[in-house]
Amino acid sequence: MKRALIIDSGVGGLSVASAVRTTLPELAIAYVADNAWFPYGKRSEAELTDRLVFLVERSLSFVPCDAVVVACNTASTVVLDALRARFDMPIVGVVPPIKTAGEVSRSRVVGLLATEATVTRPYVQRLKEQFAADCKIIPLGLPRLAEIAEEKLRGIPVNREELRELLRPLFGPGAPQVDTVVLGCTHYPLLLEDFKAISPPGVHWLDSSPAIARRLAQVLSEVPPRNDGPLEDAVYFTAPVEGAEALTAYLATLRFPAPQLWPGNAELVAR
Ligand code: DGL
Repeated sequence: MKRALIIDSGVGGLSVASAVRTTLPELAIAYVADNAWFPYGKRSEAELTDRLVFLVERSLSFVPCDAVVVACNTASTVVLDALRARFDMPIVGVVPPIKTAGEVSRSRVVGLLATEATVTRPYVQRLKEQFAADCKIIPLGLPRLAEIAEEKLRGIPVNREELRELLRPLFGPGAPQVDTVVLGCTHYPLLLEDFKAISPPGVHWLDSSPAIARRLAQVLSEVPPRNDGPLEDAVYFTAPVEGAEALTAYLATLRFPAPQLWPGNAELVAR
């Protein structure tokens, strides 16, 4: 049996974990939410690289895994090379599906929803030039969106008027004809039904999770398992969890156990 380590700054990576459950129902998953450092959108590239290398290393020491999924666009745009250089196992990242937007948009006007860090990263600029050069891309770096997703999974209802206001540059009066929106942060698919409720019908909402799950399946099929026998799922948070009851209920829908404090927590606090 095999196990994947899926890591994000919070609950966003659960959108990826959900797709992984569908594609690889037999795979065990160790999910790590670095909520002590949420939001990653506010961290520098150097800080994120250092943090992710440390977290992955320590996590693998107590939950051995066969692959790592950095289920965070903000981190993936900067840390993948460092992780690949350090760990001898497949490392899968997630980047905003701008290529797909270039393929499906008819109006050639595309919204890019992501963290304030992701929308300015050179990696994302390159994706735009390479795959959607003839599209008008409207970037919206909105730190509040990931917070709303965090709240939703802790049982706090989404205020759709607030959401409508935040997405005004895409769909408000006088906005250009956006027909495609790139969900460039793994937290956002958790708000998909809310986005749909406040936007015109027929918009393509692009979520890269199914493609990440397929990529994980492919790379795992190419490596022999590191562990013998059955492996358990686990969910770790690097700081105590607020709204644990609602979150535990949500985790159960993905066949995850209740969240626990990340075992290296004391070390983190000391760092
Ligand atoms: N889920 C993360 C992403 O995909 C970011 C949220 C944060 O700022 O921590 O970009």
